[in-house]
Amino acid sequence: MKKSLYIITGCSKGLGRALTDKLTLNPENLVLGISRSPMDEKENLLHLSLDMGNIPVLTDNLGKIFPPGEFQRIVLINNAGWIGEIAPLGKLDPQGIQSIYNINLIAPAILVNEFVKQYQSLDAEKIVINISSGAANKAIDGWSGYCGSKAGLNLLTLVAQEESKIKDLGIKYYALSPGIIDTEMQNDIRSSSLDDFSRGESFRSYKSKGELSSPKEVADKILELIKNSRNYNEILQDVRTF
Ligand SMILES: NC(=O)c1ccc[n+]([C@@H]2O[C@H](COP(=O)([O-])OP(=O)(O)OC[C@H]3O[C@@H](n4cnc5c(N)ncnc54)[C@H](OP(=O)(O)O)[C@@H]3O)[C@@H](O)[C@H]2O)c1
Repeated sequence: MKKSLYIITGCSKGLGRALTDKLTLNPENLVLGISRSPMDEKENLLHLSLDMGNIPVLTDNLGKIFPPGEFQRIVLINNAGWIGEIAPLGKLDPQGIQSIYNINLIAPAILVNEFVKQYQSLDAEKIVINISSGAANKAIDGWSGYCGSKAGLNLLTLVAQEESKIKDLGIKYYALSPGIIDTEMQNDIRSSSLDDFSRGESFRSYKSKGELSSPKEVADKILELIKNSRNYNEILQDVRTF
C-alpha cells in the first residue's frame, strides 16, 4: 500500500507539534517536518532544521522538502508562523517587517509553488492547508504584519484553488483559522506591552478564563478535515465552525 506524505512547517512546537505527534503514530504516514529547533527523527519522521525567514536558504532546500515517489495522499501544511513584533507602525524594526512577511507569506507561497510543480501530475489525493488566522479579516492594532501577512495568505489560497480548478490539477486548498490555541505564540501576545497593543487585556483574560483550545484538540479537527475533505468545500475554514 502506498504511504501518505505530510509536509509540515513549524513541527517543533504548538499546533505543528501536535499534528506531527499524531500523524507519526500511524506507520502508513511519512512526515517531513521543518522548524529551526532540532527534533529527533523516527522511522516515519524526517526533520529539516531551517529558518523559513531566510528565503535563499529555503529555496536552496526545496529539493529536500518535496521528495519524489508514489503516495496515496500528499498534504502540505504551511503552519509555521510568527506573531511579529507587537507594536504600531512607526515603532517597528524594518528587519522584523521583512521577517514576518517572509515567514508567514513568502515562504508559504514558495512552498505552494513547489508543491504544484512537483506533484501536479501525480495521481494522489493532494491537499494544501495554509494555517491562517481570524486576524486576516480584522484590523488589530500592533499586529500590522500579522494581519497583513495572513490576509495575503488567504488570498493566495483562493487564487491557488482557482488555478487548480481551471487547470484541473486536483489539488484542494484551505486557508484555515485554528481559533485561539494555548501555545508559545499566545504567551508572546500576553507578554506584549499594553501601550503597543490595545487588546492585550482581552488576550490575558482568554487564558485566565480557560478559553484557549489545546493544540491537540485543534490538530484533531485538522486531521478530520484532511480525512473527510470531500465534506469541506469552502476554501476559507475556521475550526470553530466544525
Ligand atoms: N496560537 C494561536 O492562538 C493561533 C491563533 C491563530 C492562528 N495561529 C497560527 O497557527 C500556526 C501555529 O501557531 P502556534 O500557536 O502553534 O505557534 P508556536 O507555538 O509559536 O509554534 C510556531 C512553530 O513555527 C515554527 N517557526 C516559527 N518561526 C519559524 C521560522 N522562522 N522558521 C522555521 N520555523 C519557524 C516554530 O519552530 P522553531 O521555533 O523551532 O523554529 C514552531 O514549531 C501559526 O501559523 C499561527 O499564526 C495560531
